[in-house]
Amino acid sequence: MAEPKKLFIKTYGCQMNVYDSERMAEAMGGAGYVETDTADDADMILLNTCHIREKAAEKVYSELGRFRELKDVKPDLKIGVAGCVAQAEGEEIMRRQPLVDLVVGPQSYHRLPQMEAKTREGQKALDTDFPLDDKFDTLRTRAKAKRGPTAFLTVQEGCDKFCAFCVVPYTRGAEVSRPADRILEEARELVDRGVREITLLGQNVNAYHGAGADGDLTLAQLIWQLDKIDGLARIRFTTSHPNDMAEDLIEAHGTCDKLMPYLHLPVQSGSDKILKRMNRSHTADSYLRLIERIRAARPDILMSGDFIVGFPEETEEDFQATMDLIEEVNYGYAYSFKYSTRPGTPAAERPQVDEDVKSDRLQRLQALITRQQRAAQEAMVGRIVNVLFEKPGRFEWQMVGKSDYLHAVHVTESDIQSGDILPVKIVGSSANSLSGEVLRQAAE
Ligand code: SAH
Ligand code: SF4
Ligand code: F3S
Repeated sequence: MAEPKKLFIKTYGCQMNVYDSERMAEAMGGAGYVETDTADDADMILLNTCHIREKAAEKVYSELGRFRELKDVKPDLKIGVAGCVAQAEGEEIMRRQPLVDLVVGPQSYHRLPQMEAKTREGQKALDTDFPLDDKFDTLRTRAKAKRGPTAFLTVQEGCDKFCAFCVVPYTRGAEVSRPADRILEEARELVDRGVREITLLGQNVNAYHGAGADGDLTLAQLIWQLDKIDGLARIRFTTSHPNDMAEDLIEAHGTCDKLMPYLHLPVQSGSDKILKRMNRSHTADSYLRLIERIRAARPDILMSGDFIVGFPEETEEDFQATMDLIEEVNYGYAYSFKYSTRPGTPAAERPQVDEDVKSDRLQRLQALITRQQRAAQEAMVGRIVNVLFEKPGRFEWQMVGKSDYLHAVHVTESDIQSGDILPVKIVGSSANSLSGEVLRQAAE
């Protein structure tokens, strides 16, 4: 038998790209490829790219340039670009970087094996269609090998919200939900392979409305179906939009034991003027009231958010409104970004905020968030939390995992396996993680 060819995938961007990379590796498995973790010995290199901010997109071109030498010594090496930059700039990539053999958008990657075959015949292959055939269906033959205890599972993709700064509706297309039975089947397969925690993914995951046996299911209804799978211990979902936070989903946070007490709910800004210009269709106040309802259902829930500073026409006063909102919510975690002009989006045409003003605001916002984050971590010291252990740490006998609240926790113990969920008493808090001691119970 011929030796398998090697595929190296480098993934940028969001969790959905991580999920997509796994599926692409599986699709190429069917075409005789195994994955490798270095570019040096690869027969094919795939960059799974992100277009969300200018920096992310530019990184792709500098990374591609580095493969020139590899291709010089190995002319058969195939280089492909996948993901959101592929979707947005497909033909330009081919023009700008002749090293590239293949460009595939996020909705066409089930066609990768045929595209790879075409490149082996010396042709270039480009596919950035939004085909009618369902990529998830085409990819249904899943690998059966054992895997780590946590997994992503895409349930919804695309976005119809058109926030004025964002490329996602253009790169991922219109909002589509997968049918519930396919998701449940995939979840069961993952659990059979050792997965104990599933994070449901979607650009607007809480807008999920996939077909079920008796009509469409809401995300909460899907979660309750997943809740019945034996062996699945934890369910998370991301990313949610404030406008789609339905009552049954809020309730599930209080009543579904497998649904973890962590919610990523981006608000972007605390100024109603800016929110309106962002086309976010919620106000600072409606967001705050929503969080009150979520906390009424699950008082210990850890909130996380996304913020953009320096959106066109953001004044110091608008920025202060964002800082006030952060003070009021008290986040356990947050991602924050300087506004990045994206060609083709409505905000790109508007008067821009100076770069140094953006930098200054980002610094102040991040200082506040870091303070809140540290306080949330320190509040865990002395508490007993469940930890799902994932892998060995840097030191001998060390194991690391995640608490229900998604804090990284490490312990030093000899007999913990990846996939164990154990109660841990938190004894210390450092910059990015907690340390603890496993409590052994008679039943364990
Ligand atoms: N669908 C998700 C994720 C969108 S991208 C959501 O609605 O939250 C993730 C984050 O990137 C966004 O929440 C936003 O904070 C940030 N982002 C998107 N476009 C951006 C831009 N042009 N400049 C800076 N940050 C941006
Ligand atoms: Fe982008 Fe807004 Fe859609 Fe999120 S909701 S993906 S920020 S357009
Ligand atoms: Fe980036 Fe595309 Fe995800 S632009 S954030 S990889 S949806």
